[in-house]
Amino acid sequence: MNRTITLIPGDGIGPEVTRAVVRILEASGFTPQWEPFSAGSEAVAEHGTTLPQPLLDSIAKNKIALKGPITTPVGKGFTSVNVGLRKALDLYANLRPVWNLPSVQSRFTGVDLVIVRENTEDLYAGLEHTVVPGVVESLKIITEKASTRIAVFAFEQARRRGRKKVTAVHKANIMKLGDGLFLECARKVAANYPDIEFDDRIVDAACMHLVMRPERLDVLLLPNLYGDIVSDLCAGLVGGLGVVPAANLGENGVGVFEAVHGTAPDIAGRDIANPTALLQSAVLMLQHLHEDQKADAIVSALKKVLASGHVTPDLGGKASTTSFADAICRELSSSG
Ligand code: NAI
Repeated sequence: MNRTITLIPGDGIGPEVTRAVVRILEASGFTPQWEPFSAGSEAVAEHGTTLPQPLLDSIAKNKIALKGPITTPVGKGFTSVNVGLRKALDLYANLRPVWNLPSVQSRFTGVDLVIVRENTEDLYAGLEHTVVPGVVESLKIITEKASTRIAVFAFEQARRRGRKKVTAVHKANIMKLGDGLFLECARKVAANYPDIEFDDRIVDAACMHLVMRPERLDVLLLPNLYGDIVSDLCAGLVGGLGVVPAANLGENGVGVFEAVHGTAPDIAGRDIANPTALLQSAVLMLQHLHEDQKADAIVSALKKVLASGHVTPDLGGKASTTSFADAICRELSSSG
């Protein structure tokens, strides 16, 4: 199929890991047209804005983007490009599957979670004001529409991935109205999916369970703020942000697939960055495009190379980004 995909290599290690991932995708037989764009400070220099309109138009047209990390200066300069993209394209669902990989050290084995985070509201609505000097009010927005939409997404993902249970995570014992509405919407949606078990947990208890028996949980459904925190906690269960994928998805099949780690300025330009996280995000992209065979082939090649110990320095090895990608490409061509 003649498909075009918007490519945002990003900055720092972004171009290095993106180059590696594009090569691996092409070795799997997935050879779309790539439409490359800059974003963030690079785009400011060229277009006077961090999120140029032609980039947004390209994603709207192609529906799919693969994105490397982009620098967000702390406390000054422009706001996060990632948040800007989510808002501009109404990418309401953040999806993060989290599972153990061979050769990636972690405290737990048998972790196989899917985190579904609502991406558009909650305290992230950014509605804050100073009531009187020294007193700030931040508004937590929870709507029936967004809560129902994300619950449907979670159950659809559970079905598509052959999962058994969805757990809604909330604090409805304290925020009876806001989190209560989120939970009530999840319960209503659950009634339409009798093939999938549903339960709920209070966020603090859920965190405790996650760091004691993570293998007992399956798909987690969370409002925005708890989702942000719990998804990083879950990444920590399997080796950290350097290995987990993420997708931000909207209506009509629009999706931006990205690594959740940052631009790693300390190692940028040295050909030692680990492309695993972006590669796993690209696997999510292939699954989204119903290219399951290619996705499975890449995961199998990735597992073999990780298990062989030919890994980048962050995982304790000596491989370069390029040679790690080469090894995965070789596995793909020998198995294909
Ligand atoms: P970071 O994730 O860039 O780096 C933290 C540590 O992890 C560093 O030691 C780095 O070398 C290492 N690391 C990260 N990714 C790696 C990889 N693929 N392979 C090997 N090692 C890796 O986080 P930091 O330093 O807090 O942020 C740096 C910049 O990245 C900031 O400007 C931040 O705003 C931006 N950022 C962008 C994100 C995005 O575009 N999605 C997400 C997070 C941060």
